[in-house]
Amino acid sequence: MVPLAGLSPEQESLREIAYRFALDKIRPVAASLDERAEFPTGLIREGHSLGLINVTLPVELGGSGLSIFDACLVIEEIAWGCSGFATSMVANDLALTPIRIGATEDQKRRFIEPIASAGLLASFCLTEPGAGSDAAGLQTTVDDGGDCWIINGAKQWITNAGHASQYTVFASFDKTKKHKGICCIVVPRTTPGISVGHHENKMGQRCSDTCRVTFDNVRVPKDHMIGAPGDGFKIAMQTLDASRPMTAAIAVGIGRAASEYALAYSKERKQFGVSISTFQGLQFMLADMATGVDASRLLTWRSAWLLDQGKSASIESSMAKRFAADTAMSVTTDAVQIYGGYGYTKEYPVEKLMRDAKLLQIYEGTSQIQRVVIARELLKR
Ligand code: CAA
Repeated sequence: MVPLAGLSPEQESLREIAYRFALDKIRPVAASLDERAEFPTGLIREGHSLGLINVTLPVELGGSGLSIFDACLVIEEIAWGCSGFATSMVANDLALTPIRIGATEDQKRRFIEPIASAGLLASFCLTEPGAGSDAAGLQTTVDDGGDCWIINGAKQWITNAGHASQYTVFASFDKTKKHKGICCIVVPRTTPGISVGHHENKMGQRCSDTCRVTFDNVRVPKDHMIGAPGDGFKIAMQTLDASRPMTAAIAVGIGRAASEYALAYSKERKQFGVSISTFQGLQFMLADMATGVDASRLLTWRSAWLLDQGKSASIESSMAKRFAADTAMSVTTDAVQIYGGYGYTKEYPVEKLMRDAKLLQIYEGTSQIQRVVIARELLKR
C-alpha cells in the first residue's frame, strides 16, 4: 500500500487496517463470490467486528464515528478488494443516515443503535420500478391508519434487502404534493405484509444483494416516521449528498485496482521481444489511468472534507461521484485493453473490475443526474 500525501499517521493506520482486510480476506474470495453471486455474510460480520461497517455513524449509536473523509479512505481500500463488498458495506450507512439526519434522539437510539451495535443490515428504500432518477415521482403510499401508518407499494434495486433487518422507506401521503408529500419511515423487516424478491442476477458487483421489496398494507407505529410528514424528500437528498463521496470512493478503489493490475501486467507481457510497457502508446494509457484515479480521489476528498466542515456540498459531491464513476469505467476498460485477449477472460481480474465499474455510473444517481445537479447549482450561482 503506497502512503498518500497529506494524511496523518492515524489516517494511514486506518487505511492499513482496511487494506489488510481487503488483501487478506476480500481479494482471495472476490472472484468466487462474483461467479456464484454469493452474499459475503461471514465477511460482513468480520468487517463489522473491525469497525469497517457503519463507519460514519456516531460511536454512541454503535458506529465507528469516522469523519466522511476518513470513511472514504477506508472505503477506497475495501473497494480495491471488491466493490460489491464495499457497496454492501456503504449501503448500511446510506440506510441509517436519514435517521441520523432527521430523527429525534429517542428515534436514533431505537432505530440506529440496535442495528449498528449488533452488526445487522439495513436498506435505503427510495427507488421504485417506475421512479429511479425521478425520485419525487415515487408511487409508494403512506396512509394514516389512526394508531399507525399503512404503507403500500414496491421498491426496486434495493441493496442488502434480502439480508436487512430494517428498511428506511420513502413514501407519499399525497401524490398531488409531489416532493412535498414524501415521508421517511422506518420499517422493521418482520412487519407483516413485506415480501422480498429474488437476488437480482447482475452484470457486476454480483456479491452485493439487490432485490425488490413489496409493501402490502404494512402497518408501522406512528413514531416510526422520521421528521414531519413531507420532510422525506429533503432528508433523502441530504442523505445522498453525504453518501455520494463514499460512492465516489468505491469508484476510486476500482480504478486504482485496475491501474495497478495494468501497470504490473504491462511490465511482464512481452511482444516484439520487449515488455509492452516500453511502448509509448501504452505508457500514455498508463499515465492517463493514474492521473484519472488521482483526480477522482482529490474530488472525493474535497467533497468529504466540505461535508465534515458542516458545509453544503451538493455540487462537489455530484462532481466527485460523476467524475470518479466515469473514470473508473474508462480506466477499467483500458485495463482490459492492456491485458488484450487475456483481459477478456475470467482467468484475469480486470474483466470483473470493468463489469463492477459500470454500476457506479448508474446507482446513487446516474452520471446524467449528477450533471443535472451540477448544472442546476452552477446556474443558481
Ligand atoms: N439538499 C436539500 N434539499 C434539496 C436538495 C439537497 N441536496 N436537493 C433538492 N432539494 C430540495 C429543493 O431545494 C426543493 O425544495 P423546495 O421545494 O423547498 O424548493 C426540493 O428538494 C425539490 O428539489 P428539485 O426541484 O430539485 O427536485 P426534482 O424532482 O427536480 O429532483 C433530482 C431532483 C436531483 C433529480 C433528484 O430527484 C435526484 O437526486 N434523483 C436521483 C435519485 C437517486 O440518486 N437515487 C439513488 C437511489 S439510492 C441507490 O441507488 C443506492 C443503492 O441502494 C445502491
